Amino acid sequence: MRFFSFFSSLGLMAVVVIGNQLHTEKITLREQASFPVGVAVSPKRIAQSEYAKVVGQEFSSLTAENVMKPQYIWTSERNYDFSKGDSLVAFAQARQQQVHGHTLVWHLMQPDWLKNTIESYDSATLENLLRDYIQTVVKHYRGKVVSWDVVNEAVASNGDGMRESVYLQKLGDDYVARCHQYARQSDPDVLLFYNDYSIASNPKKLNTILEMVDDFQARGIPLDGIGMQMHVGLDLSLDDYQKALDEISQRGLKIHLSEVDIKVNSNGKQTTLTPELAESQRELMSEIVRRYNQLPEENKFAITFWGLRDNESWLTNHTGFPQWPLLYDHDFQRKSMYQGFLDGLETAQTTVDK
Ligand code: XIL
Repeated sequence: MRFFSFFSSLGLMAVVVIGNQLHTEKITLREQASFPVGVAVSPKRIAQSEYAKVVGQEFSSLTAENVMKPQYIWTSERNYDFSKGDSLVAFAQARQQQVHGHTLVWHLMQPDWLKNTIESYDSATLENLLRDYIQTVVKHYRGKVVSWDVVNEAVASNGDGMRESVYLQKLGDDYVARCHQYARQSDPDVLLFYNDYSIASNPKKLNTILEMVDDFQARGIPLDGIGMQMHVGLDLSLDDYQKALDEISQRGLKIHLSEVDIKVNSNGKQTTLTPELAESQRELMSEIVRRYNQLPEENKFAITFWGLRDNESWLTNHTGFPQWPLLYDHDFQRKSMYQGFLDGLETAQTTVDK
């Protein structure tokens, strides 16, 4: 790679591009990275042979995009359907991939029966139900998943304190801690994460989460890591991102970049992924990986992409526009962003070599 960097610094981009393309044909993300590289998948998508092939070759970790959420598992008060999550685990085991569990508690994507009844439960009833849910699910996946997002997005959207969810209202300020304790009681080994968005871009939100971390650590509440979702745009401040990496790793926690995608169409005006946007996306991808890779080994848990191909990204619905946010295009071709990921790994090595 030094060879390419040398020519790149002379401005001989053609040589670099040709060289890198030849090079990347032979290699895969899971072989190149020293930490697990993951992707969010659905049982339907991995049932397609080409999809399964790429996912198996490239990734060493899987997250269920939806089917391990309460909406899918929790069919009625004390009935659970693990079939879809189990099929995903079997797929992963056959390919020596680890599985990250997502997510035990979330104010969104609850089953209809729970949405309809949750307001009517008194605190003790809801606490018992939630504890049973957490413990049953964690026990079921014991030894099959390496980690869980215990509570997802419990902090207010703007970072100002806790989110005013029905869980907070009924279970009180300390419910996240208790959810962690319930999970730990059911599996002494599984890694427990708190997962949220905008941690890298909203310093106030980072602070609120760090206060929670400090409080958990002071009281011995089990917490192994933080999931930084990383649904980011080209305007991401690298200083804010770096600060989040530093603050979390200094607390001895693992960091999971848990739902990475990079939006390039915030105002909806783009009709195609232009070469300029693809290049900006490649550069940002490379910086995200480079800085992550420079963390001490023990703080690196995994980088997980929230989908494989641009056309399947949740962001098209969520933002109302195509965002071309992922590593692969519709035709299973690696995008420049893929090369950006590899560049991020290389840069870190070069820096260490010098
Ligand atoms: C999204 C899925 O990608 C969509 O398919 C689903 O309709 C809604 O949820 N933060 C999270 C993820 O933690 O679970 C969300 O996934 C995206 C935002």
